[in-house]
Amino acid sequence: MSISTNLAPLHLAGLSVPDFYKELSASLEALVGSESDGLAQLANACALIAQQLPHLNWVGFYLLKGGELVVGPFQGNPACTRIRLGKGVCGTAAVARQPIVVDDVDAFPGHIACDAASKSEFVAPLFLGDAHSADPAARPLVGVLDVDSPLLARFDAEHASGLAGLADILSRRVHWKTLGLDATRAESEI
Ligand code: SME
Repeated sequence: MSISTNLAPLHLAGLSVPDFYKELSASLEALVGSESDGLAQLANACALIAQQLPHLNWVGFYLLKGGELVVGPFQGNPACTRIRLGKGVCGTAAVARQPIVVDDVDAFPGHIACDAASKSEFVAPLFLGDAHSADPAARPLVGVLDVDSPLLARFDAEHASGLAGLADILSRRVHWKTLGLDATRAESEI
């Protein structure tokens, strides 16, 4: 795999936030685009985000299995294993089918505190299929990308937009069928 030139610590390079995410998106595309195993793709994706984005204490995935969000590959402290749809920031974003930014987790009703160090959080839903498909609202949910920070209000509008872009890359590029998820159980080929 040829990704070495894209894996310098971008946050040290003096980039604007949009340019930082442009570079990080290219790195993510390169990292996951050449792999066909979904678990490997998700493991490397969260390692890349944790490596490149400063002031994070947890980044990873909750995947929709058996009607619940079950923890997947992540970087950070051990986390709660299962989150019901509609619960916590993750379950709320999953049901809303929209990214959620929480500036202060203590002010979010029902926030699930897996790591007491977390002060702010970003969660984006992940979907099967193309965002530009005929009926985007019908895209099956496969899970969420969850990013936590020990800083209050870590994720401003530019970061939220950049992270949502990363989630979109993962929705399109990850081979979800290899992960035994609800959305792909009946699918023979993605
Ligand atoms: N805070 C999340 C739970 C997952 S941990 O942050 C890793 C939530 O409220 O859904």
